[in-house]
Amino acid sequence: MSTSLHSFAKINLGLKIGPRRLDGFHELRTIYQTIALYDVVRVEALAGSGIEIQCTEPAVPLGESNICYKVAERVMQAAKARGRVVIHIEKQLPVQGGMGAASSNAVATMLALERELDLKLTPGDKLRIAADVGSDLPLFLIGGTVLGLGRGEEVYALEDLPPLPLVVVTSPLGVATPAAFARWDLLCAREAELTPSPAPGTINRFSSAVFRWLSPSLPWQSLAAGEPASGVPAGSGDRAETLLLDLVRAGIENDFERVVFPEYPELYEAKRVLQREGAGYASLSGSGSTLYGLFTSAEEAQRAAQRMRKAGHAAIAATTVTRRRYWELLFQ
Ligand code: C5P
Repeated sequence: MSTSLHSFAKINLGLKIGPRRLDGFHELRTIYQTIALYDVVRVEALAGSGIEIQCTEPAVPLGESNICYKVAERVMQAAKARGRVVIHIEKQLPVQGGMGAASSNAVATMLALERELDLKLTPGDKLRIAADVGSDLPLFLIGGTVLGLGRGEEVYALEDLPPLPLVVVTSPLGVATPAAFARWDLLCAREAELTPSPAPGTINRFSSAVFRWLSPSLPWQSLAAGEPASGVPAGSGDRAETLLLDLVRAGIENDFERVVFPEYPELYEAKRVLQREGAGYASLSGSGSTLYGLFTSAEEAQRAAQRMRKAGHAAIAATTVTRRRYWELLFQ
């Protein structure tokens, strides 16, 4: 017997980086959104001992440094379980692509192992193990639209956005997140030299930008305007269009673009192409190298992806995945 899971990718809808903390991590603010692109993770528990990772993608480490290994080890310890664990990863998502693929694989490993061994880990145990192994893991214990604080591991379920069509553009470039954070530190140090009394950090402006973005769709806004609270059906083209326009207007951006684009101008160019192709909002995901563009209709997204593929970009049309769909689709 084995347990297979869809291990979904995420994108970041805005990402603000704060100062480097005493523990070496950076304080950040972001909105994570799960999307319908995935790897498949299959976990098998057998008699014996040890953890084995199987994956044909050469960039995926097969030993103890793989975070699926780390999660499996911690789950076995927490549950005081014994056995040999075989983790098979069918890779479709890019490695070091900024879509949280490795983190998602690790959470899928935890959930599959829990089912495979019929373990009863508490939600607290799962969150602790996930946060312990990496900042981007806990979001995959929630799915849908998720607010990320702290070093990214402090997660809160937001009211889900309606499913939004998107085009994801992947690149063979792998951007190492620690290196991108280091370049961010250099940029901040240079700016501090140029401006001796700098304006307060922009991290604090993220919450007001998110509030500006999402508050027009809060029930009290439409009630104040004399409309029925459910006046705009979720998922309609109008609602998507308003959300995307408001997202741009609110100035929600990914700080990593400021250090990743100068280093990889081809990624900036791909963002420009997404915008030219009609994306209502386009951005780098995480520290890259993946870019995405949100569209108001699935047809538009498909046509844009097709044109971009013809022009040589690795573009795929997909959609965002709400929390409910995430949990419906997780176990195959
Ligand atoms: O948490 P995770 O293991 O994914 O982080 C990888 C590296 O990225 C950290 O060791 C750190 O260098 C950097 N990082 C950071 N601030 C964060 C998240 C990650 O500096 N909020």
